[in-house]
Amino acid sequence: MSNIIEIAGLTYHYQFEGEEKFKALDDLYLQIPEGEYLALIGPNGSGKSTLARHLNALLLPSEGRVMVEGLSTSGEDNRYEIRKLVGMVFQNPDNQIVATTVEEDVAFGLENLAIPPEIIRRRVADALEMVGLANLAHHAPHLLSGGQKQRLAIAGVFAMQPRCLVLDEPTAMLDPRGRREVLETLKRLNHNEKITVVHITHFMEETLEADRIVIMDKGRVVHEGQPSDIFSGAIELEDLGLEIPSIPRVVQILRQGGLNVPPGILDVNQLVSYLC
Ligand SMILES: Nc1ncnc2c1ncn2[C@@H]1O[C@H](COP(=O)(O)OP(=O)(O)O)[C@@H](O)[C@H]1O
Ligand SMILES: [Mg+2]
Repeated sequence: MSNIIEIAGLTYHYQFEGEEKFKALDDLYLQIPEGEYLALIGPNGSGKSTLARHLNALLLPSEGRVMVEGLSTSGEDNRYEIRKLVGMVFQNPDNQIVATTVEEDVAFGLENLAIPPEIIRRRVADALEMVGLANLAHHAPHLLSGGQKQRLAIAGVFAMQPRCLVLDEPTAMLDPRGRREVLETLKRLNHNEKITVVHITHFMEETLEADRIVIMDKGRVVHEGQPSDIFSGAIELEDLGLEIPSIPRVVQILRQGGLNVPPGILDVNQLVSYLC
């Protein structure tokens, strides 16, 4: 499978007038295959958001390069195309609402692209269907729950027909139900629509069904692997300030207690069928 994103030697310095440079990304390498569901984790300040902003040319490398479908983000002529290919969703759903109805909010980005109204209507309807908000098309966005607002933001980006979606802690401000709704939506987007998903999160439970987990620390990729490997106990996640999700944690405790449960069990049904 070909890579939709290829990052090589990416270094990024924040710099303010009269202040010293701060290196937020440090010689980072990462390849993302088309269609992958990638979970990106790491302690606060490890550079996740800085990396996210490089994926659609909101930030440009100080050194190294970021390629999206073979286009360098550093090439000025490529930026329009890259922003069409890679959609972004941020943490705070309230900052992403621009219109007075759900439907108009999804249509907003399309109306700026001189797309015929008939096609806009169809894309908006499809996007609302995809995120499960079709029945709320005429509602006021500010009356939605947090999870619904975040799904609305996803619909708005999805309607632009990107190939990749980058979500920077999209569930951080949501309650458990809203988190579940958003996670289900992302899985559907990836599975049914074949859109590559880069999901940044500090909720480890949200990473269990990812194709791959990438762990960042101090501006670099320090580990990557399938969830069953990442949570098998071989990596000292706690040293990185990260939690082990509850089922892998129970498996570790059982193993330490002398029970020969295979490492790499991630979900409760697997564990129960092993134990019973
Ligand atoms: N706008 C900014 N100006 C200066 N430093 C920043 C800015 N944004 C982030 N940083 C610094 O860069 C580092 C990485 O930040 P960030 O990418 O936000 O990490 P994360 O998303 O993993 O928490 C942090 O040390 C942070 O303080
Ligand atoms: Mg961040």
